[in-house]
Amino acid sequence: MVCDKKLLRTLAGEVAGRPPFWFMRQAGRYLPEYRKLRAKAGSFLDLVYDPVQAAEITLQPVRRFGTDAAILFSDILVVPHALGQKLDFVEGEGPRLEAVRSTGDLEQLSASAATERLAPIFETVRLVREGLPEHAALIGFAGGLWTVASYMVAGRGGDEQRAAKLWAYRDPEGFGRLMTLLEDATLDYLLAQVAAGAEVLQIFDSWAGSLPEPWFESLVITPTRSLVARLRAAAPQIPVIGFPRGGGALLERYAAQTGVHAVSLDSSIPLSRAHRELPAGFPVQGNLDPALVVAGGRVMCEEAERICSSFEGRPHIFNLGHGFTPDTPPEHVARLCELLRGADKQEERA
Ligand code: CP3
Repeated sequence: MVCDKKLLRTLAGEVAGRPPFWFMRQAGRYLPEYRKLRAKAGSFLDLVYDPVQAAEITLQPVRRFGTDAAILFSDILVVPHALGQKLDFVEGEGPRLEAVRSTGDLEQLSASAATERLAPIFETVRLVREGLPEHAALIGFAGGLWTVASYMVAGRGGDEQRAAKLWAYRDPEGFGRLMTLLEDATLDYLLAQVAAGAEVLQIFDSWAGSLPEPWFESLVITPTRSLVARLRAAAPQIPVIGFPRGGGALLERYAAQTGVHAVSLDSSIPLSRAHRELPAGFPVQGNLDPALVVAGGRVMCEEAERICSSFEGRPHIFNLGHGFTPDTPPEHVARLCELLRGADKQEERA
């Protein structure tokens, strides 16, 4: 039911009391309880494909901090992995994929076994829904199509995803085939998460900001619009949050044209501008700089308050502008949550 969960009410347009909050990368290496499980597991991917452990990790930050949402513990790169691309997470370095560089390479990928390969993740979703406190909503996710394609082509993150851009600039048709393959696989993946119990979906387009305007249109806005339209047709009750990181001045166009129900803002977006340019009542999420939570103390609290007051009158989900880094002290996160919940207490006193 929508009414008991603050996050769902806010996504439906309600503005009442404190903003609901959760944090990108709220599960992960900054938490000692995660590091304990991670040390015992063979690899990050072993954890992702182990439903009992992945559900436990998903719930850890909800238990510790009382966040208003759990986000499925998984990764955006499981979709290419399920399509048959080799994937490894190198300790301290990030993901490495065996790069796909041409339409010829696409022949090696196949959607036919993907849903079956991802079955453990849908089981995780079911287990999390069973163990989730009543107040919290479960967020499923996938990567934005451009971002995932860019990892598939570059084989890693960095360098502004240059290898993927070069393919897209030189051979838009061939690159378009990769995008279409990914769109179909991502749609199936997200709808299976919904069938298993995800109540909200987020699309992480982390490399959206690396593209010039015409390609932001053709590789971010157009494919996201198509994906969201198909999601809305198949699961009309599920809100979709779009996160075009680095989208800057193109954010409003993204919000107006993709059909997402809400946008997540990175930390560089000027809030007064976003508040002015986005339609009244359009929900926003964000956007505390994760480095401020590493710093902690007054500077963190004052910025959190500035963000909340900037969005007064608009549905707002408090979050970071990007994910927590492993050096984040959990006590700083606890202090931040206390502050965010404090708004409730003030209301009760008033
Ligand atoms: O937010 C959450 O708590 C849910 C889980 C989640 C992970 N990755 C777990 C993870 C989510 C939503 C993601 C999304 C993701 N993964 C994105 C989009 C958001 C963003 O950060 O821009 C991207 C680009 C990836 C790809 C990826 N996965 C990278 C670049 C890395 C390496 C960086 C790092 O922090 O190590 C990962 C690994 C990863 N994904 C970890 C976690 C907890 C760390 C792995 C470990 O424990 O060894």
